[in-house]
Amino acid sequence: MKALVLAGGIGSRLFPITHTGAKQLIPVANKPVLFYVIETLVDAGVTDIGIVVGGTQAQVREAVGDGSAMGARVTYIYQEEPLGLAHAVLIARDFLGDEDFVMYLGDNFIVGGIDALLRKFHAEGPAAEILLTRVDNPTDFGVAELDAGGQVVRLEEKPKNPASHLAVIGVYLFTPAVHEAIDAIKPSPRGELEIVEAIQWLVNNGYPVGSATVDGYWKDTGTVTDMLEVNRSVLETLEPCTDGKVDEESEIIGRVRIERGAVVSQSRIVGPAVIGAGTVVRSSYIGPSTSIAEDCVIDTSQIEFSIVLNGAAIEGVGPIEGSLIGREAHLTRSCLTPRASHRFLIGDHCKVQVAP
Ligand code: DAU
Repeated sequence: MKALVLAGGIGSRLFPITHTGAKQLIPVANKPVLFYVIETLVDAGVTDIGIVVGGTQAQVREAVGDGSAMGARVTYIYQEEPLGLAHAVLIARDFLGDEDFVMYLGDNFIVGGIDALLRKFHAEGPAAEILLTRVDNPTDFGVAELDAGGQVVRLEEKPKNPASHLAVIGVYLFTPAVHEAIDAIKPSPRGELEIVEAIQWLVNNGYPVGSATVDGYWKDTGTVTDMLEVNRSVLETLEPCTDGKVDEESEIIGRVRIERGAVVSQSRIVGPAVIGAGTVVRSSYIGPSTSIAEDCVIDTSQIEFSIVLNGAAIEGVGPIEGSLIGREAHLTRSCLTPRASHRFLIGDHCKVQVAP
């Protein structure tokens, strides 16, 4: 069995971070979401992995390499434009050959692995198997309608009037029958070849399509709110350790990981939190559910429930909460700015919220 991981697309809901970086590489507890995806596949015994990449391919290739560090063998498949999930399967045809495969969206986060799903697929032998979960906002997802016996009868992508609250999770199992389905469907009104339409084609043409409803933890990390929530949940399981330096005037409370070369002085860190390698935390408060990446400076500031990407500097600012701070961003306090005013140099599509 092979895997097809989708790491293309433009990540518009995470602009401006995704103007310059792949959304699948945004770190959760200082590890890219895409790495969790690859590890989940390898843990389930699927090591032959094709990764669909787009405009951010250079970064994905640099981060993942040939996959051997994670026990995988990775083949890259270039998608010129994000023309849909089924389009990604279409262009991966040579890689996939006539084998069964797992399609895994590179921004989906599942806790608990996919072993049980694979076992069910092999035992029951459907043409396709999808995972569903109950959500409050079905209009944001592919939505499934099941009959009384639990069989999939209808699927719709981001419906205006959803038939159920069952969202399609971004992990799908396929036999080669899906290729016939993809050859038969046409682009949707939004111009994409939709995977849910290919699955609907299978249903309409009498192919068995199985589904499993998961109650465990699943998140699409497509928005900042989702990223912060996944980060919070992963940090809850963090193994505390101190590989960096913490001075005697600092206080470390709860699950905190201080990575190699990080220096913490005159600060209070309340976990769960991770402080990345080479980061300096000085005279600051780092609160729960916060991941600070490598080589950052946090000086005389307060921050919690946030993700800070590598190389960022926060000096004399706070309290900061619920924020995603991009690579090499600088947040500083300036005496040149009039009292109680703010001064910004903000890139395209940024979102800034200041207290009233
Ligand atoms: O997360 C689950 C949802 O994922 C499903 O419920 C939906 O049915 C499914 O369409 C998908 O919806 P999203 O709006 O979240 O899809 P998104 O455009 O974010 O793409 C998902 C991943 O696939 C993301 O890592 C980017 C990648 N991608 C996307 C497209 C459209 C590609 O690599 N190529 C593409 O052409």
